[in-house]
Amino acid sequence: MWWYLLLLLPGTPAALNTCAPRHITGPAQNYVCVCNSSYCDDFPRLEKLNDGTAAVYTSSLSGKRFDLKFAQFGVKSTNTTGVTAATVKINPQDTYQSIIGFGGAFTDSVGFNLNSLTPIMQYMLLDSYFGKQGLEYNLGRVPMASCDFSMRTYSYLDTSDDFELKSFNLTSEDFDYKIPFIDQAVKMTEGKLKLMASVWSAPGWMKTNGKMVGGAPLKGEMGGIYYQTWGKYFIRFLEEYHKNGVDFWGLTVQNEPSSGLDPNYAWQTMYLSAETERDFVKTILGPLLRNSSHGKNINLMCMDDQRFLLPTWADTIFADPDAAQYIDGIAVHWYEDFITPAHNLQWTHERHPDKFMLATEACNGYLPFTHGPILGDWSRGESYAHDIIQDLNNYMGGWIDWNLCLDMKGGPNFAKNFVDAPIIVNAEKGEFYKQPMFYVMGHFSKFLKPHSVRIGLNIDANANLLEGVAVSTATNQRVIVLINRHDDVSYSAQIEDAANPGQFLNVYVEPHSIHTIVWNKVQAL
Ligand SMILES: *[C@@H]1O[C@H](CO)[C@@H](O)[C@H](O)[C@H]1NC(C)=O
Ligand SMILES: *[C@@H]1O[C@H](CO)[C@@H](O)[C@H](O)[C@H]1NC(C)=O
Ligand SMILES: *[C@@H]1O[C@H](CO)[C@@H](O)[C@H](O)[C@H]1NC(C)=O
Ligand SMILES: *[C@@H]1O[C@H](CO)[C@@H](O)[C@H](O)[C@H]1NC(C)=O
Repeated sequence: MWWYLLLLLPGTPAALNTCAPRHITGPAQNYVCVCNSSYCDDFPRLEKLNDGTAAVYTSSLSGKRFDLKFAQFGVKSTNTTGVTAATVKINPQDTYQSIIGFGGAFTDSVGFNLNSLTPIMQYMLLDSYFGKQGLEYNLGRVPMASCDFSMRTYSYLDTSDDFELKSFNLTSEDFDYKIPFIDQAVKMTEGKLKLMASVWSAPGWMKTNGKMVGGAPLKGEMGGIYYQTWGKYFIRFLEEYHKNGVDFWGLTVQNEPSSGLDPNYAWQTMYLSAETERDFVKTILGPLLRNSSHGKNINLMCMDDQRFLLPTWADTIFADPDAAQYIDGIAVHWYEDFITPAHNLQWTHERHPDKFMLATEACNGYLPFTHGPILGDWSRGESYAHDIIQDLNNYMGGWIDWNLCLDMKGGPNFAKNFVDAPIIVNAEKGEFYKQPMFYVMGHFSKFLKPHSVRIGLNIDANANLLEGVAVSTATNQRVIVLINRHDDVSYSAQIEDAANPGQFLNVYVEPHSIHTIVWNKVQAL
């Protein structure tokens, strides 16, 4: 139709489905965006951006979701009616880490929830995350065998004393809940999806407590038969997934090894100290990976645990060059970020600048008094945004969310560890709901593309709940993400690119809002 063509003129957004809001009465007093078998909102695509023009995407407590407006560079705004002026200056000559990307996890529970939807809605949900119309996630985490977001506990080697791995086998969960959806996501990203695997526990018979649930180490001494067998298990897992068409970019040694100190831990875990992890990688896992066809180029990550363990955990492992040679990065979880300064990450980077850092798990609704989903909760989206900005400003290369989707209770989870997710599936009604966290993830994943480089950003000190991060992309765009966490302060952000002094972009930043601002780098005259 002619009007459709008009909408595709450069600098204007393509026709799109906007959020179908549903107000939720309850603690959050906000809304979710509803997708059903015939409707789902998508990301307002940017066809072309003229030089001197910036695209400003806004989501807010007040009701915007990826709302796209355009702004021109020009004189500094003098209108301070009802707003606080904030100077936001980017310094592209100050360059930091490169961006690895953003993503979520393919747990058994995710697959179970996808299977509760019709194929068309499964496609819509995955496309919302991985497709061109969606958030364009480029990272995915896959649990090796079961975790708490499974319906039962199982490993791939549940036959006792099978040190030869004769009975090693993938399970129906891999074929019903994981591999088909990973395949779809890989196609949606045109093969660009980088997958990483993590394991929660060895088979029970290999641990001193005899079961996968509850904290305990592997039996025997480092280098003994249990450790040797455990190393082979990783290689077999990579081989079996490869046979089924799935290859991995990354691998962590152990999910949350420190939780394995608690013998009463309510779900699968296994204890490795930093020293054990170092020795296991150095003497067993590292050499096996290097010698395997599907593991030799894998990005091996240590720790996969809370920020407060840094920099000590990394120091312990990297002090040994024989262990350090096998490890590419440090995986970090978010669960105790509220009591640990993000500066720990910067220290870690300064001490080990050749190792990348990647945030590999985060969710809301995990604390005892707030277990499970809260539909429409803006503050949960804001907590993601705040954490991602702090992480990126302290050298983290990317951020992987936990479950891509969960049910209305925040499960299924055999251990009843119900939590929140950016998409909540209501199978009974044939709907799924996009939470504020979903849009927040998109504010980063959509434009902070892999190989972007973080650049200097100064936000003046009067603006303490105004936070942001800036990158320069591989396609010569500048991107800033800004959040305002104030209840009642509006900012007039006066954005200046040091490469183009005297030209300002004035962006109105309302209370409780997030903005992604994109423009083409000014060519040198
Ligand atoms: C699906 O959502 C759209 C947009 O909100 C609505 O118009 C339509 O009636 C819904 N369809 C069903 C079957 O609920
Ligand atoms: C000044 O800014 C306020 C709030 O942002 C707006 O309501 C008002 O229309 C602006 N005034 C002018 C003259 O642009
Ligand atoms: C391995 O698992 C698959 C899928 O569950 C099953 O079809 C196959 O028979 C199993 N193989 C062995 C050797 O147990
Ligand atoms: C490397 O792999 C080959 C064949 O898979 C095997 O024969 C050899 O023993 C392995 N070497 C080490 C050090 O594991």
